[in-house]
Amino acid sequence: MKKFKMVFLLLSVLFFLSLPSNIWAHGKEGHKSLKKEKKREHWAAPVEEIKRVNPVEKTLRSIQNGKKLFLNNCSGCHGLTARGDGPDAEFLEPTPTDLKAMAGHHSDGDQAWKITNGKDPMPAWGDMFSENQVWDIVNFIQSLKKNH
Ligand code: HEC
Repeated sequence: MKKFKMVFLLLSVLFFLSLPSNIWAHGKEGHKSLKKEKKREHWAAPVEEIKRVNPVEKTLRSIQNGKKLFLNNCSGCHGLTARGDGPDAEFLEPTPTDLKAMAGHHSDGDQAWKITNGKDPMPAWGDMFSENQVWDIVNFIQSLKKNH
């Protein structure tokens, strides 16, 4: 029994000794620099999806529908202007992508696949939207390019 107490005491001491470093590591500054160090892992759609032709024309109607869907479903993370700065963004790792900066750099098929399938912490939207709705959102995101 005595031996048990000693082991417990030793473990407690070790635990408290380890505390300060934990606290510092999760302090505001520490967390920030840690975030910066972490490089964003490249997220690529399968090649055949990247090459997929967008069947929905980039009409004003499609873009406006996409914008409505975006504001209702995506802006919490990606921000109202799609700059990756929505109210939930600071709690996420990795942070939501700046989709305005991304507009025009990835093919329509690439974006549609990413929206449909998601990637933690971004949800998959394939069950939420019809294919045409996904293309409408893609058309909206790509339309942000000319406002650079
Ligand atoms: C819970 C927060 C969250 C929501 C809601 C969300 N996203 Fe994302 N999204 C993310 C994060 C985080 C990433 C970055 C994932 C990565 O790179 O690992 C991302 C990445 C993306 C990308 C990929 C950019 C690229 O090419 O690398 C697209 C496109 C995208 N989101 C579109 C959308 C659309 C459209 C919606 C709404 C239908 C949406 N997202 C909703 C968090 C979110």
